[in-house]
Amino acid sequence: MARMNAAVVTSFAEPPHYQPFEVPQPNAADEFIVDVLAVGLHPRVRSGAAGAHYTSSGTLPMIPGVDAVGQRPDGTRVYFVAADDVIGTMADKALASARRSIVLPDDADVAKVAAAMNPAMSSWVALRRRVPIQPGQSVLVLGATGNAGTMAVQVARRLGAGRVVGAGRDPGRLAALTSAGADEVVQLTGDDDATARALAAAAAESDIVLDYLWGKPAQHAIPALLTARSDRSREMNWIQIGSVAGPAMELPSVALRSANFRLQGSGQGSVSPRAYLAELPSLVAEITAGTIAVTATTMPLADVEQIWPQPEAPGERTVLVP
Ligand SMILES: NC(=O)c1ccc[n+]([C@@H]2O[C@H](COP(=O)([O-])OP(=O)(O)OC[C@H]3O[C@@H](n4cnc5c(N)ncnc54)[C@H](OP(=O)(O)O)[C@@H]3O)[C@@H](O)[C@H]2O)c1
Repeated sequence: MARMNAAVVTSFAEPPHYQPFEVPQPNAADEFIVDVLAVGLHPRVRSGAAGAHYTSSGTLPMIPGVDAVGQRPDGTRVYFVAADDVIGTMADKALASARRSIVLPDDADVAKVAAAMNPAMSSWVALRRRVPIQPGQSVLVLGATGNAGTMAVQVARRLGAGRVVGAGRDPGRLAALTSAGADEVVQLTGDDDATARALAAAAAESDIVLDYLWGKPAQHAIPALLTARSDRSREMNWIQIGSVAGPAMELPSVALRSANFRLQGSGQGSVSPRAYLAELPSLVAEITAGTIAVTATTMPLADVEQIWPQPEAPGERTVLVP
């Protein structure tokens, strides 16, 4: 059996170790092996490597990495999403399939594509596949200071939003959102009542909310927004995307009776692999054109164990290069 180097998780309580591992083998006609060129270290990758993602099977050892840019033997570069949550992409070689990959244009930047596709896809797919945005609609991004949230502001603008409000904690990152396309920003502070009032004043008329937070911030925001709405029978589509502020919240039933409040999520499972695949080429084009901006920090995959516990600098995405 051929061997390669990989980031290998042997315990969900430890960072991955860089060590030899068997090269995966294609099992189906549309599968192929690529040389991995760049892999993003996304929050989703960390939760998978901790055995904490909702898709985790709990199998060890595992190779983390949910997507990557790779090169086929003929030199073609592809962006692909791993089909397996056990043998992922943080390795010299990985298994890709035609059903989950696209060929990259010559001008695509490998590191930027690896850094941006996962966070950018969250809002792009939500606004095209879950609740197709109508030109001129108003969008609130709850949790706009992270990579995915900041890109969501740009994506909403690009897809025709008439007004975009970004809400988040970090004042420096919030200030930068205006140049990313936000009309207004709201700071989420420890003062729940003041935060609720500020959100209601800025975003009660939102048509769509892209929620990266869940937990207490969403729990406080929903009643505040709905009660301040001028016409409660007008749809407010709340799209649950991330849960960095908590996996659960309390939702009073009245929220669903007293307003035309529509709650749904967007992610693996609620959107089919086929629908994701269909959106990938346009997303690569936006990243390559710079309409969705990203700062990729490349580091050697061989240093994965040391890199893993280090927090990312705000606004940057770590990309590991074999
Ligand atoms: N469903 C999907 O399709 C999909 C796809 C990609 C990502 N996601 C999810 O989206 C989320 C964000 O991903 P990302 O790549 O943007 O991560 P990221 O770059 O690490 O950003 C996370 C942000 O969360 C903020 N945050 C953390 N705890 C918070 C709290 N208690 N209240 C308010 N803000 C808080 C931080 O804000 P501060 O700057 O204020 O510290 C940070 O900027 C993750 O949960 C990820 O799994 C979902």
